[in-house]
Amino acid sequence: MDYAEAVEKAPPGWRHFGIHDVARLPDDVRTRELSRIPSGEPDDRVVRALFWTLVYHLEPERWDELARYEPIHPAVIEALPLDVEMALDVGAGSGRLTRHLVDRSREVVAVEPSRGLRAILSRRLPTVRVLDGWADALPLDEGSCHLTTACGALGPEPAILAELRRVTAPGGWMALINPEQPEWFAAHGWRRMTAPPVPVPPHPRWIDEFFGPPEPPRDLLTMQVGG
Ligand SMILES: C[S@@+](CC[C@H](N)C(=O)[O-])C[C@H]1O[C@@H](n2cnc3c(N)ncnc32)[C@H](O)[C@@H]1O
Repeated sequence: MDYAEAVEKAPPGWRHFGIHDVARLPDDVRTRELSRIPSGEPDDRVVRALFWTLVYHLEPERWDELARYEPIHPAVIEALPLDVEMALDVGAGSGRLTRHLVDRSREVVAVEPSRGLRAILSRRLPTVRVLDGWADALPLDEGSCHLTTACGALGPEPAILAELRRVTAPGGWMALINPEQPEWFAAHGWRRMTAPPVPVPPHPRWIDEFFGPPEPPRDLLTMQVGG
């Protein structure tokens, strides 16, 4: 999502944060995120643009609670390859997708830049190897993954796409659930499957007030890497 779109689409909970919270982000995260923001922008626009980053890094339990009420559509999970040697979840959060990979793979690696979300994921899924990292510089060897996944974390940035391909073994699969700009992927050779909408589970009112209405992921884009 580009800067202007992130400002415009910030959920109502952005008002919970102030510019002093941006200063509380880990140094590497703050530097990385601020580099995308034009200089001289007013504080409220900066906070709006960084809403999701502030949640992931400063209040990870809020994201975890939202994820509980936005379960991935079962048809999307069913469409993922079974019986995989090594599966990777990029931007794994607190493990909403990762837990399904555990059932389908002998080994699972999760890459996630938020320390708080990594802690929740490790506690919940102790067999998963959890690594700090970013999608455009994955801390994994070339061709080491047979199923490379992400849910809600990525868009079609060239550096990210190159990394997903690099770490995926020949014959392996890349599978992105609710990526940004799904039309871009569909127009570039990825197979798209959209499951029908399902009712959102009953959830506390603060979720809507903070994040807006929950939208469980139901869009799957897949591509097999040539052998
Ligand atoms: C919408 S959440 C989805 C989390 C998890 N995949 C799920 O489905 O519950 C996006 C996640 O991607 C992570 N993230 C954001 N930008 C990233 C990047 N460039 N590389 C890797 N992870 C990223 C965030 O820290 C956050 O945990």
